[in-house]
Amino acid sequence: MKRVNKILENEKYIHYLEQNIEAEKNRVFCRHDLRHYLEVARVAYILALEKNISLKKDMIYATALLHDIGRWKEYLEGVDHAIASANLAKELLDIADFNPSEQALIQGAIRNHRTYNAKNPPLDQILYKSDKISRPCMECSVVKECKRFGIGQTPKLYY
Ligand SMILES: [Fe+2]
Ligand SMILES: [Fe+2]
Repeated sequence: MKRVNKILENEKYIHYLEQNIEAEKNRVFCRHDLRHYLEVARVAYILALEKNISLKKDMIYATALLHDIGRWKEYLEGVDHAIASANLAKELLDIADFNPSEQALIQGAIRNHRTYNAKNPPLDQILYKSDKISRPCMECSVVKECKRFGIGQTPKLYY
């Protein structure tokens, strides 16, 4: 996982993580921190194994670690964080030695992570799904105000 470590150790990556922490310090809903990225990475990797999707482990982890890295830009500039994150990911993927076709796949999955489309590549689909099911909504104290759930809907555990 050398390439993933290059992302994690990169000072710009660390700076973006800090920007997210600062922007969300008063947020009562789910945060977009390293814990979230790792939970998404692990669930996405499990999904890939279960579905026999042939993707390198470091591709899945890199995608998950970068998918919300531009969330702070949404708070500060009002831009879509999926687009912002895909754009910020480019330089980090270069530094971590992902080749142009790998970068295109990763950036595409990040760009599309807010909407499900069955026609999208497998990486898009496992990122979308893991982003949702990895959240421990059952223990959330503000679930009644969360826009993910309609009135009277209660979160359940997905397996
Ligand atoms: Fe997101
Ligand atoms: Fe996310």
